[in-house]
Amino acid sequence: MCGIVGYKGKQQPKEILIEGLKNLEYRGYDSSGIALKDGNEIQVIRSVGKISCLEEKVNSEKLLDARMGIAHTRWATHGVPSVENAHPHRVGKVTLVHNGIIENASELKEKLLKEGVVFNSETDTEVACAVINKYYEGDAVKAINKAIKELKGSYAFCIFFEDSDKLYAVRKDSPLIVGYGDDEIYVASDIAAIINYTNQYSLLEENEVCEIDKDVKVTLNGKKVKKEILTATISADSKDKCGYEHYMLKEIMEEPVVLEKTLKPYVDNLDKLPDLTEYEEIHIVACGSAMYAGMIGKTLIEENANLRVTVEVASEYRYKKVIYDRKTLVILISQSGETADTIAAMRKAKMAGIETLAIVNVVGSTIARESGSQIFIEAGPEIAVATTKAYMLQVAILSLLAYKAALSSGLDDKNVMAEIKKIPRMVREILDRRDDYLEIAKAIYKREDIFFIGRKIDYAVSMEGSLKLKEVSYIHSEAYQAGELKHGTISLVDDGTPVISIITDKDIREKTISNVQEVKARGAKCIIISNEEITGYDHLIQVPEMSNFFQPLVVVPCLQLIAYEVAKLRGCDIDKPKNLAKSVTVE
Ligand code: G6P
Repeated sequence: MCGIVGYKGKQQPKEILIEGLKNLEYRGYDSSGIALKDGNEIQVIRSVGKISCLEEKVNSEKLLDARMGIAHTRWATHGVPSVENAHPHRVGKVTLVHNGIIENASELKEKLLKEGVVFNSETDTEVACAVINKYYEGDAVKAINKAIKELKGSYAFCIFFEDSDKLYAVRKDSPLIVGYGDDEIYVASDIAAIINYTNQYSLLEENEVCEIDKDVKVTLNGKKVKKEILTATISADSKDKCGYEHYMLKEIMEEPVVLEKTLKPYVDNLDKLPDLTEYEEIHIVACGSAMYAGMIGKTLIEENANLRVTVEVASEYRYKKVIYDRKTLVILISQSGETADTIAAMRKAKMAGIETLAIVNVVGSTIARESGSQIFIEAGPEIAVATTKAYMLQVAILSLLAYKAALSSGLDDKNVMAEIKKIPRMVREILDRRDDYLEIAKAIYKREDIFFIGRKIDYAVSMEGSLKLKEVSYIHSEAYQAGELKHGTISLVDDGTPVISIITDKDIREKTISNVQEVKARGAKCIIISNEEITGYDHLIQVPEMSNFFQPLVVVPCLQLIAYEVAKLRGCDIDKPKNLAKSVTVE
C-alpha cells in the first residue's frame, strides 16, 4: 500500500523515479509525487490521479540538475487524495515520502502546532516530517533515531535533508529495500520498482537507519549493521503484458504454467508437506481472496480429514480473544507476505507459543521470514490488483494439504495423485473456452446486482467469484449459501437478476437445484457452473468432474474470466480498480 522509490547516483533521477512508480502503481494510485535535490535546492512536483498525470506534469517543468530524488505513489489514509496531501512532504529542512500510518499523529500534531509548526496538509506524514525536523541539528541519523522513538504505528521513510547530499531510509512494519547498482543506490518499497536497474538488494530490518552516500551505511541504535546482499529472482520482463490487453487476463492465462511449477515438487512426494493431522485444530488466517482460499481449505480439510478448522479474517483475529486450548497450527495465507493484519495475526500466534505456517508468494517478505515454516506458491509477480493466479495457487496448496491430511486419516485413494498431474492441462482447457464466458458476460453486464449461490465447497468457491466480479466490474454482488438466500436476500431477486449457481458437490446437488428453482420462479437469469449436465436454465458451463480435492481448480478460472469479461464490457479500469490496492500494508 503506497509505493516508494529513492535514488542517489550519477544520473538525473527523473526517469528512474517515474518508471519505479509505474512499477509500484499496484500499491496505490490516487496521487503521486517526486522531489529532486541539487545542492541546497529542492524541487517538489505532485499530482492527483495516476502516475501518467504526474509524468505529464514533470515533463512540462524545467527540472533541477539533480542526482538524487525520492518519489511516492499514494493510497490515501489520512486526508483525501489531493496535491497538498500527496507526498513528498517538506517541513523545515526535511523532505520525505512515507508508507504506513502514524497512529499518534493527532497527538503529535497538537504539540507541534503549539510549538509554532505550520502544516499544509491533513496527513500523518507531514507530522512525521515535522518531528524529524524538530530533532535535526545537522546529524540526520541522530534526528531519525530520536523521531522514531516518538512515532507510533507503521512507517517506511525515504528522506533527505536540505543541507546534506545523503539519502536516508528507515522502516517499521512496512517493507523497504536498498538496491545496489553501479555507483548508484536505490531505495524501494519492493524490488519490482527497481528491477529494471538492479537485482542486487538488501532488506532493511525494523528501525535500521540506512545512510546513503557513495556507499551504504546501516546502523541500528547507532551500531553498525552488516547487510546481506540478496539477488532478486523476478526478471524485468515478467512485468510485460506479453500481448494481453490486461495484466488480469495475462495472469489468469498463466495459471496452467504456475500450477505446474507449484504442484511439481509434491507430485508423488507429499512428504515435503506438513501433516495437519498432527494438530487438533487449525486456524486459517488471511485477508481478502486469501481468506476465501482459506474457506476452500477449511471445507476440504474438515470433510476429508475430520479435523477442526476455523477461518478468520486477520483484522479480527489480531484483536479478538482466541482460545488456544488444543494443539493448534495457525496457517497464514498471503500473496504479498506484507498484509499488515495478517502479519499482526501471525505475531499474535507466535507470542502465544503457537506454531505458524505461511502459504506465501513473495520470498523475503515479512510473513515468509517470520513464520515458523513456509510453503511458497510459484505465482511470480502478480501485477493486476485483483488477484487471480496467486489465489488459484493458494487453493491448490490447501487442496494438497487436505489430501495429505486425508491420507493420514485413512483415505485410500491413489487416483488423486494421478489427477494432480493432469490439473494444468485441465485448467488450460477451461481457459480456452473464452467465448462461453463472454456470452455469459454479455447477458449480465448491464445488471446492478448479481448473486452467487452454492453449498459447502461450492459456496466457498462462489465467495471469491463474487468478490472478483465486484472488485473489477463495480457491480454489486453477493455470495450466499444456496439454502440461505431465501432468508431475506431473495427479496432482491426479480426479473432478469443474474444468479450464478455452482453445483459440483454431488451429495448436495439436488438441494442446490431446488434453490435454483426458487430463484428461477422469481424471474432470475440462471447461470449454472457444474460438473454435470444440468438443463432447463439460461446458461450452463460444464466443467470436468474431478475428485473433491481439486474440483474447485476448474471452477475458479470460469469465475475469474466471467468477472474479467464483464468488467471489460463495462469499460472498467480492470488492472487498477478504484479505491483498491494490492498490498494492504496498513490496518
Ligand atoms: C488486498 C488485495 C486482495 C488480496 C488481499 C490480501 O485486498 O486487493 O487481492 O487478496 O489484499 O493480500 P495478500 O497479499 O495478503 O494475499
